Amino acid sequence: MTAATETVDLTTQPRSQVQSAAFWAVKSLRRGEKVVLITAQEPTLLMHSLDLQLRHNLAWTIVEADGRWRVEVSHRADAGPRDALDMLGLDHKRLDGVFVRALQLLNRDDAAGAAPPLREFAAALRRHIAVEDGLLASFLDAPAADADPLAVMLREHKEILQQLSVVEDSLGFPEAAELGALCAILSGTLAKHEHREESNLFPRWRGQWARKSAVEREEVMSRVASLLAALGK
Ligand SMILES: [Fe+2]
Ligand SMILES: [Fe+2]
Repeated sequence: MTAATETVDLTTQPRSQVQSAAFWAVKSLRRGEKVVLITAQEPTLLMHSLDLQLRHNLAWTIVEADGRWRVEVSHRADAGPRDALDMLGLDHKRLDGVFVRALQLLNRDDAAGAAPPLREFAAALRRHIAVEDGLLASFLDAPAADADPLAVMLREHKEILQQLSVVEDSLGFPEAAELGALCAILSGTLAKHEHREESNLFPRWRGQWARKSAVEREEVMSRVASLLAALGK
């Protein structure tokens, strides 16, 4: 089934109202839907601003023709990842999903049932951290000063891996309450860490990403995809 595509011509809008008219045109965009915006000005900045307002829910392509621009806007979930940072962001969501499954089982005192998703989660989290530390930190960043987002990430990874090891060591002695408490500590640490990465470090890395050649970006995306793949299976 193909959803109808709405076209919104912004070329007749006063310049001061283009941003808000575009916002209302794409605000309620759902998966499977598309909106085409026609603009009189080059729309890259406009689209980044809208995307920020809508919590990175937008994907778009821009085509220029006859002195006007045609922007085809869709929901981010319908598009593939734009870059390696998108892939890591999606991986955060997948990691969280597996961990929540384990936590729900622990809440029901089912430590034995929680062990398989916890093992899956542990392997996936180690892969994720290896991609960030081993591949992207060197591809996208300079050696870190103490207070900068890369240094924070590297320090938090050590803490997370220590907490993860404690959880894994407890899997052989399944007491649901104790395991649940250890997982709750790790869950809090991880949630703060993912938020800090997505709001502080990934935007900075995205600036570096844009300076890499298309060949380099493609190669790194395919390496990240294969390194993270085990979780999606
Ligand atoms: Fe991380
Ligand atoms: Fe991450």
